[in-house]
Amino acid sequence: MKLLILDSPDEVASWSAKYVAKRINESKPSRDRYFVLGLPTGGTPLGMYRKLIELHKKGKVSFQYVVTFNMDEYVNLPKTHSQSYHYFMYDNFFKHIDIDPKNVHILDGTVSDLKSECSDYEKKIKQIGGFDLFIGGIGADGHIAFNEPGSSLVSRTRVKTLTDDTREANARFFDNDISQVPREALTVGVGTVMDAREVMILITGSHKAFALYKAIEEGVNHMWTISAFQLHPNTLMVCDEDATLELKVKTVKYFKNLNPHELINSDSNASIKS
Ligand code: GLP
Repeated sequence: MKLLILDSPDEVASWSAKYVAKRINESKPSRDRYFVLGLPTGGTPLGMYRKLIELHKKGKVSFQYVVTFNMDEYVNLPKTHSQSYHYFMYDNFFKHIDIDPKNVHILDGTVSDLKSECSDYEKKIKQIGGFDLFIGGIGADGHIAFNEPGSSLVSRTRVKTLTDDTREANARFFDNDISQVPREALTVGVGTVMDAREVMILITGSHKAFALYKAIEEGVNHMWTISAFQLHPNTLMVCDEDATLELKVKTVKYFKNLNPHELINSDSNASIKS
C-alpha cells in the first residue's frame, strides 16, 4: 500500500483526475478492449469528477471506450431521487462526458429480486475481465463502499444493513433528517474491490484521520474494512494533510520522501500533464 500526501482537498481532486486520465490514455482503450473503472459517490470524489470533466472538455481524455461500475446504491430509493447514486452520478459526471450510457453500470436498489441484481453485477464484472482501476472513498469508520464494520473481507456484491453511524453521516444529504436515510444498500464487496488490478482511495479531512491511521498503521481487521487493502498488491491512498493527523511522524515522513516513480503506476513513466 502506498500513500500520497497532498496539501489540500483541491490538490487531491486535481491529482486524482489527472491520474485517472493518464491511466485511461495509457491503456489506449478501443472497441476491442475497454478500460474498466470502478467509481465512488460521496463528497470526497466530487472535486475529482469536476476536474475530469474539465480534462474531457479540453480534449485530454475520452470515455468513449470506458466501462464503469459504481460501488453502491441505496435500497428502495427511486433512481430519480436527488440523493440516489444514479442521480448523483449522472448529475455530477456522466451527463458532462462522452460515455455511452450502455457502458454505465449502477446497482438498482429498487428491483424486487435484490439477490439476483447483486449476482448479475458480479457476473457482468467478471465477463468484462475485471477492473483496471477501482476508485474509492471511505467513511469515518473506515468502511469502503457500504462494507460496514464487521463485513467479511472476502465479501462480494450484496445487500448490507447500514449502521447508525453511516446513516447519521449521510443525513446531511437528506435535510439532516436521519429518518429519511435508507436503512439498507446494495454494495460491491471488499473482495470485489480487492480483485481490481489497481485501487485508488481518496481520503480528505481530519474526520477521516483515525480511519486512515487504522487503514495504514494497524493490522487487517474487519471492523475497519479499508484495512483489507494492506493485502492488495497495488493500492494507492491519496490524502490531504488533515487526513494524516493521527499518523506517526515517521509514517508521514516515509511516504513524503518516497520516490515519486514508486507512487505512480505508469506503463510509460510519463509525467501527468493537464
Ligand atoms: C458513503 C459511501 C462511501 C463513501 C462514504 C464517504 O458511505 N457509501 O462509498 O466513501 O460515504 O463519503 P464522503 O466522501 O461524503 O465522506
